[in-house]
Amino acid sequence: MRISRSRCLTLSFILICGLVPEVTADAEEASDGLSTTREPIWLTDIPATEELINAAEVAVIGFFQDLEAPIVSVFSSMAQQFQDVSFGMSNSSEVLSHYNVTRNSICLFRMVDNEKLHLDAKDIDSLDAAKLKQFIYVHGLHWVTEYSPLIAAGLFNAMVRTHLLLIMNKASAEYEDSMQTYRKAAKLFQGKVLFVLVDSGKRENGKVISYFQLKESQLPALAIYETKNDKWDTLPSTEVTVEKVRDFCDGFLKGTLLRNHTAEEDARKEEL
Ligand SMILES: *[C@@H]1O[C@H](CO)[C@@H](O)[C@H](O)[C@H]1NC(C)=O
Ligand SMILES: *[C@@H]1O[C@H](CO)[C@@H](O)[C@H](O)[C@H]1NC(C)=O
Ligand SMILES: *[C@@H]1O[C@H](CO)[C@@H](O)[C@H](O)[C@H]1NC(C)=O
Repeated sequence: MRISRSRCLTLSFILICGLVPEVTADAEEASDGLSTTREPIWLTDIPATEELINAAEVAVIGFFQDLEAPIVSVFSSMAQQFQDVSFGMSNSSEVLSHYNVTRNSICLFRMVDNEKLHLDAKDIDSLDAAKLKQFIYVHGLHWVTEYSPLIAAGLFNAMVRTHLLLIMNKASAEYEDSMQTYRKAAKLFQGKVLFVLVDSGKRENGKVISYFQLKESQLPALAIYETKNDKWDTLPSTEVTVEKVRDFCDGFLKGTLLRNHTAEEDARKEEL
């Protein structure tokens, strides 16, 4: 029990602490001269609010009773920084009471596991742009989220305990097609498995690759793990098809590991 706990900690340590975290959500499009300032969508009724939430992989809604509060302008500035997140805001008492909001509040809704995360009045009073940006970055998980040490913190906090990694070089020729397929497969496992991309072209991701005992020559590969115990498995040298991804996930969820890493590791320890 103790061993498996420490192994689990090792995994989260490797995944989370590889780098000094830094929020790098890109605001590149701001400087191309074409895009105008992106603002939250003003929501005046419940249907409009529901529509925005249901159409977005990640939606962040500001529910504000007091539009004069400093947090309102901080919140508005976020829309420009996260181009792949939908932002809305409302001061309608009908909308606020539907979402059970009694004071200023910010909510993040994500499709991948149907989670709803709240920042309450207490948190909001001390919230600055950097903290809000970090909150959205860490918790804004998409159908496929690109791995970074900061994202790992959000993954390990999620209720969904099984995570699948596609370890692949983003510069490779088959990347675009593979990602499309991988996204398709992710939708089959909504609320069961979180899908992550690890760019093997990034040197700092080497730690993740070696944790799963994979070699450069075995990529692209799939790796799957459970955060609540030490179980993990890999599918080296694979092409990405919906069937392969589905069978690999299904097998892992049913408990049929392709390879018995725990047993292997114990055997190796005994040899030493
Ligand atoms: C919402 O804000 C607008 C101003 O933008 C104001 O006219 C309206 O009275 C506010 N509604 C409520 C319920 O506070
Ligand atoms: C508001 O709270 C009620 C009672 O706890 C709950 O049934 C309802 O689903 C909540 N509304 C939303 C939109 O979460
Ligand atoms: C993995 O180990 C367990 C327990 O030691 C054993 O029951 C199971 O058959 C093993 N599976 C494989 C694929 O070796």
